Formats: sequence, C-alpha cells, structure tokens
Amino acid sequence: MKISNQIFTGIIACFVLVACDNDKFPEPAVKDNVSFELDIQPILTENCATCHNPTEVDPDFREGFAYESIEELIDEGDVIPGNAEGSELVEMLEGVSADGNTMPPAGPMKTLNIGLIRKWIDEGAKNN
Ligand code: HEC
Repeated sequence: MKISNQIFTGIIACFVLVACDNDKFPEPAVKDNVSFELDIQPILTENCATCHNPTEVDPDFREGFAYESIEELIDEGDVIPGNAEGSELVEMLEGVSADGNTMPPAGPMKTLNIGLIRKWIDEGAKNN
C-alpha cells in the first residue's frame, strides 16, 4: 500500500511537471530568425494580395513585389525596422490604428501571423 502510494505520488508529480511546462505557451511561441521569403510572404499572399495588387489597391503585396512595397512603407515611417511596437502597420494588423485602418478590413488575422510579422520587424524587417 505504501509503495503504491509513492508510485501514485510520483505519477501525479510527473503530470504537474508536464502541465507547468505547458504554461510557457499561452501566447503564440514565435521562433527567432523569421524569414521574409518563407514566413512573411505566404501570410501576405494569403491575407493581403487578394486586394493589394495592381488592379485593386496599393501597396502591392504579391510575391515578387511585396518587399519593394515594404521598403516604401519603411520610407513613409509605417514600418520601423527594429521597432514593431511603434510601427503603424502593426497597429493596423492589431486593429488599434489611430486612423481607424484595420488590415485585413474584415478583422485581425491569427495571432501567430501577427506575432511573426512583429518578430520580423523587430529583427530588422529584412529581405531575408
Ligand atoms: C478586402 C481587401 C483588403 C485586404 C484583404 C487587405 N487590405 Fe489593406 N487596404 C485595403 C484598402 C481598400 C485600403 C485603402 C484604405 C484607405 O485608403 O483608407 C488598404 C490600405 C492598406 C494600407 C495603407 C496604405 C497607406 O498608404 O496608408 C496598408 C499598409 C495595408 N492596407 C496593408 C494590408 C495588409 C498588410 C493586409 C494583409 C494582412 C491587408 N492590407 C489586407 C483593402 C484590403
């Protein structure tokens, strides 16, 4: 009986450890070294380029054209490399832009997508 109690306690302790470990993931876990080509462009293609193309609306976010558009946003100060928090683009993605622009207009994307874009801007908004 005593031994089985110890085993039982051991098993509970294992569960508690595993549960505590999972507490690290309430926010999206965003990796380091986000790649524009591999991570960001697919998000823009899927969520933005349907409207943001030459026949609909500027800036153009299609593959092959999007980074040039990002460079314009950097020139205009809407994307500040190294400072996602201060970037107007991020405010638009989070739906908290002062001028009321939310992108996509239908409502915010998955938090993981926004997290990746934030990380990529914080890492320098590079064409990588
Ligand atoms: C349903 C169509 C649609 C989708 C999808 C969409 N946009 Fe837009 N976007 C617009 C329209 C229309 C405007 C122009 C709004 C205006 O001028 O008030 C705009 C404007 C913008 C601007 C502002 C340009 C400027 O000069 O200030 C940015 C930046 C932008 N969108 C980024 C994005 C991003 C990034 C995504 C994807 C995450 C996205 N948009 C998805 C329709 C869309």
